[in-house]
This record gives sequence, structure tokens and C-alpha cells, in this order.
Amino acid sequence: MDMTVNGKSVSVDAAPDTPLLWVLRDTLGMTGTKFGCGKALCGACTVHLNGEPVRSCSTPVSAAAGAKVTTIEGLSAGGSLHAVQKAWIQEQVPQCGYCQSGQIMSAVALLSKAKDPTDAQIDDAMSGNICRCGTYQQIRAAIHRAAKMMA
Ligand code: FES
Ligand code: FES
Repeated sequence: MDMTVNGKSVSVDAAPDTPLLWVLRDTLGMTGTKFGCGKALCGACTVHLNGEPVRSCSTPVSAAAGAKVTTIEGLSAGGSLHAVQKAWIQEQVPQCGYCQSGQIMSAVALLSKAKDPTDAQIDDAMSGNICRCGTYQQIRAAIHRAAKMMA
């Protein structure tokens, strides 16, 4: 299957029902996207498919054929961090860090639709991303900060 991952055309040889997450991590070697629950429940594996956030653990690679996939590695293309990544650092969001690439991908997707989201919009958009370290307050602050940086 042919697809575009972080702006580069790739061709992968995989069974159509292989989870996209396995292809990203094991075939393409991009380990920034994490495996948490494997059941579309935690959000650790969130990537963008044609700009929309999806759970790559539960998305068959066939769904990405001919599509554009963006992973956490693709946010800093060109060597410059995305505003959301900068805000994450400035607000010192991560604790263990395991959930954070998925959190950031969901936050970027939110800010592509809502330029200045309210707390309620943030909570709604981020509700599918679980953080066992409880960084939710910092995540909210970082999204507000990123929105200002991107204005
Ligand atoms: S690993 Fe995909 S949602 Fe938890
Ligand atoms: S930072 Fe540890 S699970 Fe979120």
C-alpha cells in the first residue's frame, strides 16, 4: 500500500488489517506513537489521518492507503518545533511522558479547528486521551498558550 507519512511517500507491504500503529512503529521505525491499551480507549496511539485524529491501534493500515498520515515526528518537520510542542515544554506538561505524543496530536487537531478553544472545548476534545500521571491541568494551560502563540 502506498501512503504519505509526514509528507513523504512510502510503500508498505502489510496485511490490510494490520493496525496502522504496527506499521508506523515496526515497519517504518517511528516509535514516537505509543501503544497503550490497543483497544481505542486511551489515545496514546493518536495520529492524524488526512488531518483528523485517529486511534492508530484500531485503524487498519488499509484505511491509510492513498491517505496522508501525520505522526508526532511530523510536527517538527524542518527542525522547528510546532507551537503546541513549544507550549508543552513551557508549561512543563509531561511527567512520565508515555501518553504525551497522543495528547499533543489531539491538541494539534483541536487547534486546527478551534483557534481559541474554551476550557469546555478543550476538555471535550481531549476526553479520549487518558493520562495516568494526571497532567490534565497542564495540558489545558498548554493548549491555551499554544492558541495564543498561533494567533
Ligand atoms: S493504544 Fe490506541 S487507544 Fe490506547
Ligand atoms: S504523563 Fe504519564 S501517562 Fe501522561
